[in-house]
Amino acid sequence: MPCIEVEGLTHVYFPGIPLETVALRDIELTVYDGEFIALAGAAGSGKSTLAQHLNGLLLPTAGCVRVLGRDITDKEYRQQLWRQVGLVFQFPERQIFSPTVFEDIAFGPRNMGWDSITVNKRVKETLALVGLPEEIQDEDPRTLSGGMLRRVAICGVLAMRPQVLIMDEPGAGLEPAARQLILTSIKEIQSQQGITVILITHHLEDAAVFADRVAVLHQGELLSVGKTGEVLSQTRILHKAGLKAPFAVELAQRLNELGIKLPTMPLTVEEAARLLYGLIKTTGAGSGGVQ
Ligand SMILES: Nc1ncnc2c1ncn2[C@@H]1O[C@H](COP(=O)(O)OP(=O)(O)OP(=O)(O)O)[C@@H](O)[C@H]1O
Ligand SMILES: [Mg+2]
Repeated sequence: MPCIEVEGLTHVYFPGIPLETVALRDIELTVYDGEFIALAGAAGSGKSTLAQHLNGLLLPTAGCVRVLGRDITDKEYRQQLWRQVGLVFQFPERQIFSPTVFEDIAFGPRNMGWDSITVNKRVKETLALVGLPEEIQDEDPRTLSGGMLRRVAICGVLAMRPQVLIMDEPGAGLEPAARQLILTSIKEIQSQQGITVILITHHLEDAAVFADRVAVLHQGELLSVGKTGEVLSQTRILHKAGLKAPFAVELAQRLNELGIKLPTMPLTVEEAARLLYGLIKTTGAGSGGVQ
């Protein structure tokens, strides 16, 4: 079932004056219920502009965006959209001003109109979902590490139980381990609760591990969209978009040039190692081992 339908979407900032910028041009994209889709592209390619149309923060200059079957230009629906589509901005911790972690996470749920018992319950549940201890709710957010603070900020959106979660570069500026931790828990939430996740990233290694499908933006245009394995194998398109293909894909292509053909295209280093090991075992090559 389609969850978000984007048809012929064009967005122009400052139309008609010298600052005019065409940020999106004629985008066609369908996001399906319960899928994990990565939206990839270099800086300035239009990722955040597209994301802000999906929860009604921006309106199309031309074209149409439907979320859960309804047009976002419908005024009444647009005012409700934030309840269904949660958007985690880039560096969301910059918007944390509450004295305690609890107060910060409870802000959204209170706006939903839930009573204090439900709000308390949601805060606790959400902390557990992202692997944070319950006691953290009494702490001052300013005392937390970067990775923990980011998780708290994401909790603020997750606690509203959105049907669609959009995350704009949730791992930006974090250590790889912290980035991995966040994405792993979001993936778990997506598969357990059936929510739809849109991950904005320029790290295709993350898309390779977590996404079902990938859409590639380049200078406001959609260059490619499809299953993760298909899109991430299109190295020429990825390079055109200013993106680096996952290391495993580059490795497989270099091996192919040397006449070593892996049976399928690996997307992760683990997969590449497994395929290469299988090949060595069946052909008997490399039996001398590495000295
Ligand atoms: N508020 C704005 N006003 C005017 N122009 C904008 C605004 N936001 C973005 N743009 C321009 O629109 C284009 C797309 O920007 P956008 O922020 O959507 O790209 P992005 O892919 O999210 O980039 P990044 O990876 O740097 O976050 C760029 O040319 C940018 O300069
Ligand atoms: Mg952006």
